[in-house]
Amino acid sequence: MSTESQTCISRVQSIYQQNYGYPELCVKSPGRINLIGEHTDYNLGFVLPAAIDKAIYIAMGKRTDAEIHLIAADVNESFSVSITELSKSSLEWPNYIMGIVDQLSKLGLPIGGFNAVIAGDVPLGAGLSSSAALECAAVFALNELFGLALSKLEMVKLAQRAENQFVGLQCGIMDMFASMFGKAGEVIRLDCRSLEYHYTPFNQRGIKIVLLDTCVKHSLASTEYNVRRKECEFGVSEIQKNHPAVCSLRDVNTDMLLAIQNKVDKKVFNRCKFIVEEIKRLQDACIDLEHNDMIAFGEKMYMTHAGLSNLYEVSCKELDFLAAFSKGKESVLGARMMGGGFGGCTINLVKEELVEEFILEAEFAFEKEFDTKLKSYIVSIGDGTSLVSID
Ligand code: GLA
Repeated sequence: MSTESQTCISRVQSIYQQNYGYPELCVKSPGRINLIGEHTDYNLGFVLPAAIDKAIYIAMGKRTDAEIHLIAADVNESFSVSITELSKSSLEWPNYIMGIVDQLSKLGLPIGGFNAVIAGDVPLGAGLSSSAALECAAVFALNELFGLALSKLEMVKLAQRAENQFVGLQCGIMDMFASMFGKAGEVIRLDCRSLEYHYTPFNQRGIKIVLLDTCVKHSLASTEYNVRRKECEFGVSEIQKNHPAVCSLRDVNTDMLLAIQNKVDKKVFNRCKFIVEEIKRLQDACIDLEHNDMIAFGEKMYMTHAGLSNLYEVSCKELDFLAAFSKGKESVLGARMMGGGFGGCTINLVKEELVEEFILEAEFAFEKEFDTKLKSYIVSIGDGTSLVSID
């Protein structure tokens, strides 16, 4: 276990002890990256994410009453509510936990009051799914604490519903799936329609995964995300007029798409075009990965970026700048914006021996262009949600 992990565990444990006595358990749930396949999850295509070595930690124990008492150590805030009176909080972070509790009660699963302390080292708002990590940590911990016997997949689906219904982001399943099912050194090829998945090794390719964090946090991100989803659904409904068997953009080919080109708004057409291309691109990229052709894989990442920026319109000038910067570098095999968009990070596959040089150059160029500091993280692929031992 890394020093960062140990520090977070000791932190949640000691803050828990100061406030509530000895915790009954502690759960670690990681953030995620996604190599390729963006916005394809809710269109029932494929994604290629992995859990990272940065995580959210939650220490938890039962209470004798029906209240929930929470402390978020990193922001030094606390929150309490009765289990029967859940309602959205302006603090935001408690909503992820209340969303989980809300779903458990919708399933009629018996839980009582509990205390929890949260801390972590997943950068917030950077597109690394700290929120899904928190939801997975909470559902995993409650499942253990109250002996609910939910499977990992049930917990993933429950966490997604919590985000959709309580938090209000109509996200797909990728983030929770990656956090829960992550495996050290492996990326997950997930079919978001059948939920079949398999692991592909990513280590030993002489490549480091470098995230460049613009630190841009766009307030429109969740509204625009939901709009993209609606635009895709609208495209599908138009295609269905001629092809009733089509259920999602996963079932759509180029001919079907071209047939609606003059019937729908250009934006809707472009959104659908990107998704249809991205689903195909991911499948091709997986073949590159099998053949260890990281050059071809990297080229597809640049194409994904171009599509996200021009057709799906979820990029921003800082992300475009970083993707273009990486494209000109010998040291980088592929780069693109990652996650929902409108800010956050680019993901860069960088030749191991040139990582430090690349980061220094990127930091310099970014500061020169935007007069603001760039953050960077070298991440490795870690295990998914699990119990961690406490002393
Ligand atoms: C966010 C959502 C995911 C996925 C990505 C884009 O991270 O939570 O479900 O749609 O954006 O690929």
